[in-house]
Amino acid sequence: MAKHLIAPSVLAADFGNLQRDVEMINGTEADWFHIDIMDGMFVPNISFGPEIVSVIKKSSKLPLDVHLMIEKPERYIEQYRKSGADNISVHIEACPHLHRTIQQIKATGAKAGVAINPHTSVDLLQDIIGDLDLVILMSVNPGFGGQKFIYQTLKKIEKLKEMIIVENTATLIEIDGGVGLQNAESILNAGADVLVAGNSVFGAENPTLAVYALKNLGIKGLYA
Ligand code: DX5
Ligand code: ZN
Repeated sequence: MAKHLIAPSVLAADFGNLQRDVEMINGTEADWFHIDIMDGMFVPNISFGPEIVSVIKKSSKLPLDVHLMIEKPERYIEQYRKSGADNISVHIEACPHLHRTIQQIKATGAKAGVAINPHTSVDLLQDIIGDLDLVILMSVNPGFGGQKFIYQTLKKIEKLKEMIIVENTATLIEIDGGVGLQNAESILNAGADVLVAGNSVFGAENPTLAVYALKNLGIKGLYA
């Protein structure tokens, strides 16, 4: 099985030193930058928009994984793609015409993902899974970093993994919220492919070591 991916979440970076933090992550074993876009409507918080994504793109050596927590995301897909998004994920709860929105993302050349909130059943993905490059299972209620992982997510990972195997798709399972060394192993054992890590990376004394530890779980060494 391919090794899992680590996606540090820029939301937990120091916005006053964004370029410095992006360059610091470039030098780690991280695979993607996870970028949270919040509109103050779909979620009760506002983060930043496409201009900041362009700034991150300039310094990043990693693909940008853009997570749109916004209402009517179809209005902004082309704009985020132009700003440098490699993956674009929209929330199922914000998309009454999800199939169309997914095709719209693919038409830009970006990889297409769907994010689902903790209360949303993975069963709703049954008829769209074949079109998805990734699914983001929210393991906290979206809006803020630094929240506690909701353990019910492990069952959702198992169920989704089974669906992906049965449907024989190459969809990646990404887990977003409250991920750290304390739960990463159980998340991966349940079937996840990508770990988003905000505070457990940027809040660590040594973020490079924190990424190393998440990437090399089970290897005895600095964090054992
Ligand atoms: C939550 C965001 C997450 C967040 C994760 O709304 O979607 O990506 O940055 O942060 P941590 O890892 O600190 O829970
Ligand atoms: Zn996110």
